[in-house]
Amino acid sequence: KKVVLAYSGGLDTSIILKWLQDVYHCEVVTFTADIGQGEELEPARAKAKALGVKEIYIEDLREEFVRDFVFPMFRANTIYEGEYLLGTSIARPLIAKYMVEIANRTSADAISHGATGKGNDQVRFELGAYALKPEVRVIAPWREWDLTSREKLLDYAEKHGIPVEYKRSGQQSPYSMDANLLHISYEGAVLEDPWQAPEESMWRWTVSPEAAPDKPVELELRYQQGDIVAINGQNMSPAEVLAYLNQVAGAHGIGRLDLVENRYVGMKSRGCYETPGGTVMLRAHRAIESLTLDREVAHLKDELMPRYASLIYNGYWWSPERQLLQTMIDASQANVNGRVRVKLYKGNVIITGRESDSDSLFDTKIATFEDDAGAYNQKDAEGFIKLNALRMRIAAQLRNKRS
Ligand code: ARG
Ligand code: SIN
Repeated sequence: KKVVLAYSGGLDTSIILKWLQDVYHCEVVTFTADIGQGEELEPARAKAKALGVKEIYIEDLREEFVRDFVFPMFRANTIYEGEYLLGTSIARPLIAKYMVEIANRTSADAISHGATGKGNDQVRFELGAYALKPEVRVIAPWREWDLTSREKLLDYAEKHGIPVEYKRSGQQSPYSMDANLLHISYEGAVLEDPWQAPEESMWRWTVSPEAAPDKPVELELRYQQGDIVAINGQNMSPAEVLAYLNQVAGAHGIGRLDLVENRYVGMKSRGCYETPGGTVMLRAHRAIESLTLDREVAHLKDELMPRYASLIYNGYWWSPERQLLQTMIDASQANVNGRVRVKLYKGNVIITGRESDSDSLFDTKIATFEDDAGAYNQKDAEGFIKLNALRMRIAAQLRNKRS
């Protein structure tokens, strides 16, 4: 028996690695992905080797992550419950895809991960894995073992000689964190009290708006079919776009969120998020769509967006209904071409211009407050309004007759 473990190299997944070997007596294949979490991956290789792993997979998935997951999601202006930009949610289906791919490559019959039994991530990993490899076996140690506290985990690590550079009460972040090119999330510790504000030192990618520079920065974003392809005239790959925006927007205090959300498993949880680049992309994409999308197409997209967001949040990226919606969303972006100018200033994303040579539906001749030389006949509006008022007038007449 062989199992592919999504392995970060951190304490939790190192313990899981050992536990799988000891309890399941199976050969463990590790899979570690670079999705822009900003950590060295070579230590993960060394640790896996030290724990006796023979097949170690380390993949740089940064471009695939942004090109095939983040950008498609942003084409829909996606946000969950009005606030959350889905930074963790959108990375899970990519990890699931590779767990399955590596299982197939190495003839493994099972996958394993370090998500707890209380959260969304277990659902996302496993729905993805089942959708892509229907016979796969799933081992979720957090749902099985009795290592229910930090202390017990550390004892287990010590007893089994797992190298723990993690101090019992050291300088380590107290938060449960998850990072990738789109965001960092923080949960747990003081955040478990929704009334309690996080300390300033928690945030890693953004300065506070108060500490942001007094001078704004302005960027010009060029769009092609709904995706940013250049910034300030410089062509960039998807991962380069996001990394660049994270850096500039983070320095201007953009992208902090502090919220309470509804997990798919039924509980509410409090989370803090930093999504600097994503926050800019969300605003700017709406700006280019405002010029290039038909009104009803834009409104239809907006109606479907919360549904699409829930599919991603709940782990249904690889479902037929998500793929169907994606086809529609992608088709809507054919004419979303042009440029947007944004100003970043003390936590604010301010749109200062939008333009599309090839696809603008904005017609100054029609919209002007000046003489439109007959481009629009104002008399047409009279009948338009009267027919739209007809049913309200009939109802009002009836009400008046009754009283
Ligand atoms: N609550 C967020 C979500 O469900 C973030 C989850 C963070 N995951 C983690 N393993 N720390 O998408
Ligand atoms: C976890 O439970 O492993 C993290 C939180 C989540 O998945 O929602």
